[in-house]
Amino acid sequence: MTRNFLQFQRRGRAVRIGDFVPRTTVLDWLRLQERSTGTKEGCAEGDCGACAVVIVRERGGRLVYEPVNSCITLLGQLDGAELITVEDLADNGVLHPVQEALARQHGSQCGFCTPGIVMSLFAHYHQCNGVSSREKINDALAGNLCRCTGYRPIVEAGLEACNGGGDDRFSRNTVARRQAIGALDDKADLFVGDAVSFFAAPASEPSLARLYAQNPDATILAGATDVGLWITKKLAPIDKIIHVGRVVELSNIDATADGYAIGATVSLARAAPVLGSIDPDIAEVLRRFGSIQVRACGTVGGNIANGSPIGDLAPMLIAMGASVELRHGEEIRQLPLENFFLDYGKQDRKPGEFVRRLLVPKLQPATHFRAYKITKRLDEDISAVLAAFCLTVDGGRISEAKVAFGGMAGIPKRAKTVEENLRGLWLGDARRWQSAADAVGKDFTPLTDLRASAVYRGRVAGNLVIKALAEIAGVSPEVTRIADRRTVADAAE
Ligand SMILES: Cc1cc2nc3c(=O)[nH]c(=O)nc-3n(C[C@H](O)[C@H](O)[C@H](O)COP(=O)(O)OP(=O)(O)OC[C@H]3O[C@@H](n4cnc5c(N)ncnc54)[C@H](O)[C@@H]3O)c2cc1C
Ligand code: FES
Ligand code: FES
Repeated sequence: MTRNFLQFQRRGRAVRIGDFVPRTTVLDWLRLQERSTGTKEGCAEGDCGACAVVIVRERGGRLVYEPVNSCITLLGQLDGAELITVEDLADNGVLHPVQEALARQHGSQCGFCTPGIVMSLFAHYHQCNGVSSREKINDALAGNLCRCTGYRPIVEAGLEACNGGGDDRFSRNTVARRQAIGALDDKADLFVGDAVSFFAAPASEPSLARLYAQNPDATILAGATDVGLWITKKLAPIDKIIHVGRVVELSNIDATADGYAIGATVSLARAAPVLGSIDPDIAEVLRRFGSIQVRACGTVGGNIANGSPIGDLAPMLIAMGASVELRHGEEIRQLPLENFFLDYGKQDRKPGEFVRRLLVPKLQPATHFRAYKITKRLDEDISAVLAAFCLTVDGGRISEAKVAFGGMAGIPKRAKTVEENLRGLWLGDARRWQSAADAVGKDFTPLTDLRASAVYRGRVAGNLVIKALAEIAGVSPEVTRIADRRTVADAAE
């Protein structure tokens, strides 16, 4: 069954749109079509949060409120969800508790950032079950820039509203809203447009496989945290869009004999607790992956399929020995993730072939994992370098080493000479740590770009080798870490 109109919930009714330009963003629709201009445009690239709106979906029988950046979210991605904007929060002229607290705490000056901040706090108000903390509010607001108020009063407002909160007209109306959202889930394939220009959102994997094999020139759209920028910044003329976000089979997280199979469309927010359970460093890298808005939309599959040399997942998954599963038509194949990346901008993926799942093994006993994300600022920043280490230690000696870096070459890549230097090394022999670190220079010739110079990259990568060895040898994270968090200090016996 195919439906030829988009449908989502808005202000208590179902909106149906049968004709729209496929690359229309939610922000443009709100401001130019609906004329709801409370939502602002700042950067138009997902960085500032001025455009944040809240999308509500049903997941596991409950409503999940997520803030998203409407400037890079496409209108078609709203299918099956409820859209809430800043205009919707006041109840008969009475401000929402979040708005009330922001005003009382003087959390707004020029006010340009305020609608986005209100929406991020509104999502947190509903997600935190009435229990928040300064740390949680900081994470909730990491994707919202405020240039003039200063964050202290904003964070105070968040603490005031969210602790003990959760009761508003949205929560009081949960049952009816859940039914209305559920009624949109008709399991039909969505296709709006014609052969030349369309927005399609297949509901099943066979439908996706068929459609993409027939239209290999179409752009696959997952969370749009990359593709959205092609539209707003490169003004890319994308006419054929296949959105994978409704494909049920790609959204599962399954336990396997040795780890997890993570569907391509699983968002980074959903993947974080699962991948983070493998090692706390993965949890920390994912906590610092973009912002809460980026993690709500961005997907595991998108982070791999984009082939980015600075994507955060790839080096960690390569070091762990993960595989990627691809599908073209009826044909499904698997390959080690490290073989997927061929050259800058080139992956082992045929036209019409899509990423299906990532197969991620858990760590073996005696294996120690470390991952370090190097950025100019702690939150919401793309890596200059990301280093991931998977070292097996037997009786104080490294018996096996897998080390991968992002940001050091045109693709995420293993550091094979570093690995050779590590194999057989006595962890306690600190004099040999430096020669393993120096081997970075044999593995990589990094570039200078706006994130870091080649010299800095080379030096920091070597230092990270030493840091990993020091931590695994037993030097306390209190000594080796300044800002990033590692809750479990595991070291070799
Ligand atoms: C403000 C901001 C901060 C960011 N911070 C980080 C960060 O800290 N770390 C980081 O690694 N990245 C970061 N990114 C980049 C981006 O969020 C990630 O790469 C994200 O995982 C992309 O996923 P997506 O679902 O949004 O992909 P999309 O934008 O939908 O797609 C990305 C690419 O992958 C293709 N694609 C998507 N899914 C599939 C599939 N299943 N099969 C085949 N092709 C597919 C698309 O066609 C496109 O080429 C950031 C982006 C923004 C805007
Ligand atoms: S306008 Fe800056 S994140 Fe959307
Ligand atoms: S109040 Fe001016 S940018 Fe935040």
